[in-house]
Amino acid sequence: MLVESKMLTLHRNAFLSYVLLLTLTGADFYKTYDGYKILRVTLESEADYETIIDLESGDFFEIFSEPSSKFLDILVAPKNIARCERVLKSQNLSVQVLNKNVGLSVRRQRSIQQSSPYVTVGSFSYTAYHRLTVMYDHLDAAAARHSDKAETFNLTNMSTYEGRKIQAIRITSNVTSPASRERPLVWIDGGIHAREWVSPATVMYLIDSLLGEQEQGRSDDVTPLLEKFQFVVAPCINSDGYEYTHQMDRLWRKTRKPSGCKNKNELYPGEDPFDQENVKIVKTYLEEQRDKLKVYLSYHSYSQLFLLPLGYSLDPTPDREHHVKVGKAVVAAVYSRHQKNYIAQSFAEMYPASGVSADWTYEDLNVTDSYTIELRPEYLGEDHDFQFELPEEQILGTAEENFEGLLAVLNNVKEL
Ligand SMILES: *[C@@H]1O[C@H](CO)[C@@H](O)[C@H](O)[C@H]1NC(C)=O
Ligand SMILES: *[C@@H]1O[C@H](CO)[C@@H](O)[C@H](O)[C@H]1NC(C)=O
Ligand SMILES: *[C@@H]1O[C@H](CO)[C@@H](O)[C@H](O)[C@H]1NC(C)=O
Ligand SMILES: *[C@@H]1O[C@H](CO)[C@@H](O)[C@H](O)[C@H]1NC(C)=O
Ligand SMILES: [Zn+2]
Repeated sequence: MLVESKMLTLHRNAFLSYVLLLTLTGADFYKTYDGYKILRVTLESEADYETIIDLESGDFFEIFSEPSSKFLDILVAPKNIARCERVLKSQNLSVQVLNKNVGLSVRRQRSIQQSSPYVTVGSFSYTAYHRLTVMYDHLDAAAARHSDKAETFNLTNMSTYEGRKIQAIRITSNVTSPASRERPLVWIDGGIHAREWVSPATVMYLIDSLLGEQEQGRSDDVTPLLEKFQFVVAPCINSDGYEYTHQMDRLWRKTRKPSGCKNKNELYPGEDPFDQENVKIVKTYLEEQRDKLKVYLSYHSYSQLFLLPLGYSLDPTPDREHHVKVGKAVVAAVYSRHQKNYIAQSFAEMYPASGVSADWTYEDLNVTDSYTIELRPEYLGEDHDFQFELPEEQILGTAEENFEGLLAVLNNVKEL
């Protein structure tokens, strides 16, 4: 009896500390997405696209995919599903259920995050999605190992909304020499949209490959590039949002305001409340570097697309032919690694979407080679059990094929 009651007390204490732990880590409040569905709406015309944008302002679903093809994927909460299907039907829009319970993929990834040491500084790998401090620590350590060709720094002295600095790494041969600062600048960013976790992971891999930590057999390809260019790479430019997706809401993203969609200056490029300060930081840095900036690459997910300027307008740009040529080279290079099909196109070929940051660098900063890349999974694939929650075992493949894509861009830069 005594023993039993002591055990009960032990159990109770263990239970209480478990509850306390959950509360302290916020795990208790992690949004489950149980019963949420993703619906794929077929768009026959631009009017259909407008209809969806109008309906979204009614706040009973959220546009989920980047609007870049003849479908839109929307995320619908359980309480809105019946109404949503009714309204879409009344608009004669055809709808297919893509993912019938988003909660499953969110829970799967959450349990991996919780049961592993992936939050520990020093544990960086390409088999997990890491927290910000783990990625930044890896950058600092890699820069220290390669001090002849890499240095980390913070973009401007400004901080994000939640007070973080945006860390970047500059990679080029003889990095400390003043001459290296005059080289044509290649900008690469990831993580502008918080929930697109494979984006920071892929951009980290590009960094490691430029440093020779990955892709070790490819120094013949990489070394000349480090002599020709300086790379400035910021793997996670929406750091506040990224941490929020790890702690509170895997799929967090602000509802897009339709009123902003047609005006690129109003929209550019913030779509999330957390990234307003981030946007200012990136913009300030890029404006400072505009004389040297020759390539702008922004990594997103999902859809497997290589997007050419412009995103918001149907007018062909004067560089159309060049962009199509680069697109073909990138698609072939990406395919060569793991036989994944990416499609090169401009957003606007399908439906004019909101402006994207690559439009701003193309038009306002005069960067001819400005592109947006949408990583795995593919848009039209068979496997619809995950969208932004790309399984961890696909990180490496995604990153490797995009290393090939990066080389293809760099070997085709128009203006130096
Ligand atoms: C939907 O289609 C029906 C039958 O073709 C038509 O009568 C109706 O006007 C259409 N509704 C809308 C909103 O286009
Ligand atoms: C960047 O900012 C962080 C946070 O303020 C600081 O700890 C770090 O040392 C800075 N990095 C560099 C290279 O200045
Ligand atoms: C790098 O610096 C070394 C000496 O510090 C110099 O000999 C070499 O030419 C430089 N290389 C480049 C590509 O600037
Ligand atoms: C943009 O680039 C083109 C070609 O290099 C050049 O002729 C033009 O003056 C540039 N415009 C601005 C605003 O920098
Ligand atoms: Zn995105």
